[in-house]
Amino acid sequence: MSNTLAPLKGQANMPNYDEARANFSWKEVEKDFSWHKTGKVNMAYETIDRHAETWRKNKVALYYSDDDRDEKYTFQDMKFLSNQFGNVLRNIGIEKGERVFLFMPRSPELYISLIGTLKIGAIVGPLFEAFMEQAVRDRLENSDASVLITTSDLLPRVPYKELPHLKHIILADEGDAPDVDKDTTFHRYELEMSKASSDLDIEWVDREDGMILHYTSGSTGKPKGILHVHNAMLQQYQTAKWILDLKEDDIYWCTADPGWVTGTSYGIFGPWLNGTSNLIRGGRFSPENWYGTIEKYKVTVWLSAPTAFRKLMAIGDDATKDFDLNSLRHVLSVGEPLNAEVIHWGTKVYNLRIHDHWWMTETGGIIIANYPSMPMKPGSMGKPFPGIHAAILDNEGNELPPGQMGKLSVKSGWPSMLRNVWKNEERFNKYFPVKGFFESGDLASKDEDGYFWFEGRDDDVIQTSGERVGPFEVESKLVEHPSVAEAAVIGKPDPVRGELIKAFVALKDGYTESEELQEELRLFVKKGLAAHAAPREIEIRDFLPKTRSGKIMRRVLKAWDLDLPTGDLSTMEE
Ligand code: WTA
Repeated sequence: MSNTLAPLKGQANMPNYDEARANFSWKEVEKDFSWHKTGKVNMAYETIDRHAETWRKNKVALYYSDDDRDEKYTFQDMKFLSNQFGNVLRNIGIEKGERVFLFMPRSPELYISLIGTLKIGAIVGPLFEAFMEQAVRDRLENSDASVLITTSDLLPRVPYKELPHLKHIILADEGDAPDVDKDTTFHRYELEMSKASSDLDIEWVDREDGMILHYTSGSTGKPKGILHVHNAMLQQYQTAKWILDLKEDDIYWCTADPGWVTGTSYGIFGPWLNGTSNLIRGGRFSPENWYGTIEKYKVTVWLSAPTAFRKLMAIGDDATKDFDLNSLRHVLSVGEPLNAEVIHWGTKVYNLRIHDHWWMTETGGIIIANYPSMPMKPGSMGKPFPGIHAAILDNEGNELPPGQMGKLSVKSGWPSMLRNVWKNEERFNKYFPVKGFFESGDLASKDEDGYFWFEGRDDDVIQTSGERVGPFEVESKLVEHPSVAEAAVIGKPDPVRGELIKAFVALKDGYTESEELQEELRLFVKKGLAAHAAPREIEIRDFLPKTRSGKIMRRVLKAWDLDLPTGDLSTMEE
């Protein structure tokens, strides 16, 4: 295979992918947990208490850092604090299966509440702190949440007077708030915690009982509540072990917020199921903060998103020279396509491969990945995780031969698969148009060697003059140009060509918009990729609309461009 990157030293001798795949069984993975005998389980026990009962009890589970706080908590600390929080909920009468939502900035209290909620068998619903009122309302209303943990700063965005199910609000800070409103009782986190016992009988639940609700938006309609169950731990544990390659001495940092699935599956569950020391950084992104964090905590395994890597790339390689990043030994990227360009840059500045992998809110855990011991083809998402069958299907559900683009689908039944869409069975069933397969809504192809290549969302692929063009290919090309920080490409209806390619481009500092530059970019794609793939229209913008998890929202650009309604914008970055 040409154009591949060899595994890193230290990872080359991990289990071989083909062997791991041939010998894999989820039943074997179950044996790493005590519950395979009893059938009764609890995610909170397996992430925290289990380790607190071993020598790991004094190991740091959570390092927390932001501009004001710098704290650490051992597995034992986390066990007692989450027990207390479980008791806080029980003391106000909350029971198994009720929905407890979290709407607060990243902080130790957020992680303690989340684990405590699971301990009593309630279903946890994390909300991103930047949501505004409509987004908060939609989610609390649809889930009939009975408890919300929030802060007095965020409270004005919670229309609790109009949410009859919301009986309790727990404020995690000291700011002003009413003590009681007609139907909602207010509590103080500190006060309730100080009154609560640190002994708790965990609620043992069935592995198929509801655990977490993540709301995610599609191209139409209100956000959907994707329900995951405790059984998801099997996959989150094993993928964290093999794909994140977590080892006993690692300091692991996942930059995602728990309001998004990456921030729970791999910001909480995956690392703690493996007993790993987990670093959480609050506050906003800045290159100095991020590199400073890696240096200060000697981060060894780092999981982030392409948009972050592109931003770090845009500020220039000199920035890395001011920091000691030598502790890093494994870097991963997820959430949107990782341009080959960024991977090549990563090998230069970090001396490491950036490992792309693919999954989504609905899959609960990693599905396709660049397995660490496998040669990497930059631009490919990798191969299906052992124990998982992913396929490229046509509209009738037939598997397509290598090289052909089709619907990226997953054979149903993997451990962390969504179990329902909250109160919307019909929407849930739509994920399975072909018997036995989950349809992701992404388009991809698979090559002769079994590597998967992302092509775009089902609705994003461009058909121009009869040629199929994946917007990602064009975007990746544009990003290779020295002036381009980020690019988004859409298909714009055109009477002659069907669609014409339009590119939206944000420039790097030091570059200014000009006709010459636009022409240069057009030629750059034309020369580098294909004439038919060159954008006919290029619009320079100060910024591109993105989701909070960093995905460029092509559909929003398209709607703006064509003067159409933009649909649900609750996941868009300000
Ligand atoms: C996209 C995030 C290209 C894809 C974990 C998917 C990716 C959606 C990749 C899910 C990748 C995720 N390459 N695209 N490696 N990973 N995506 O639910 O379109 O926020 O359907 O889950 O992100 O986004 P979600």
